[in-house]
Amino acid sequence: MTTLSTPGASLDVLLTPADLRAALERDARAGLSATPKWLPPKYFYDDRGSRLFEEITRLPEYYPTRTEHAILSAYATDIAAAADAEVLLELGSGSSHKTRLLLNAMARQATLAAYVPVDVSVGALRDAMSSLRTDYPHLPLHGAVADFDAHLALLPAPGRRLWVLLGGTIGNYPPAERAVLLAALSAAMRPGEAFLLGIDLVKDPKRLVAAYDDAAGVTAAFNRNVISVLDRELDGDLDPDDFEHVALWDAENEWIEMRLRARRPISARLGALDLPVRLDVEEEIRTEISAKFRRERLAEELTAAGLHVEQWWTDPMADFALVLARR
Ligand code: SAH
Ligand code: TRP
Repeated sequence: MTTLSTPGASLDVLLTPADLRAALERDARAGLSATPKWLPPKYFYDDRGSRLFEEITRLPEYYPTRTEHAILSAYATDIAAAADAEVLLELGSGSSHKTRLLLNAMARQATLAAYVPVDVSVGALRDAMSSLRTDYPHLPLHGAVADFDAHLALLPAPGRRLWVLLGGTIGNYPPAERAVLLAALSAAMRPGEAFLLGIDLVKDPKRLVAAYDDAAGVTAAFNRNVISVLDRELDGDLDPDDFEHVALWDAENEWIEMRLRARRPISARLGALDLPVRLDVEEEIRTEISAKFRRERLAEELTAAGLHVEQWWTDPMADFALVLARR
């Protein structure tokens, strides 16, 4: 493990670029050889992908970020009091923008000893940490470049932690993988530590689809960016413009499904894998789901993982919720 340090800030590298590339090779080979084809979501977030995601969070159609921000604005003090933690550890922290509301509330209670942002995207993590360094000069920052599918047990614990996973990121895991993640999280938590989870709630499908298929085409560019990542990392000759962005509501599973649909027959290769990639016209690659939740079912999933729901906060329209559970 590499640790890069400046005064008051350190960055553990649990996931090296070589690890990420090895995982990409494995996943690209498996996913593009399968029927239907699929790609896992963590490869969306190279530097360009992280910047596009930040743009998504500001789109008029994309209500989750501003709603979660509003819930945190209203209740951060209550959440900090209920969590009763010394360290804020955030999984998939991205820009850490909304997190500032929690950091402020915990600092007001004089309980805050450190912030531990964790992300697979080293670029996003560095930017977030340097901006926090300026705005919170006395807060110890202990970041980790890590994959929360692999490294939860190895994350720093400079005190009793509040673990947070915001932005509805949990919804990007299909049910079986979600159960694995929650169980691993519960196993990595110490008894008494708390977990704050941000979830998007089931609502009018028209609003849901619009949030994942915006008029300006930013989500389409974000989805197609995964093709650029494949090309760059795996020496490919796929053209992102050959793919159309598709977002549809799966009413049975209550999730949004994102796909890339071939606009024409595609015959390409990933040179680094010596893998031909062929798609018929209109054939689709599944790139991401974003599950929407109902209160009871989510509480059952958390309970099954050994996490006991203590409190629940939502906005007046019940679009989004924050759930506090304890190990
Ligand atoms: N929490 C922020 C960002 C959400 S986007 C918000 O609410 O706006 C999801 C973030 O999780 C991205 O920054 C992405 O890089 C990160 N991420 C996705 N999969 C990950 C994984 N397996 N391990 C670590 N980070 C991951
Ligand atoms: N966690 C976010 C969500 O499910 C991630 C996200 C937003 C996303 N827009 C996207 C993922 C578009 C893939 C494609 O809302």
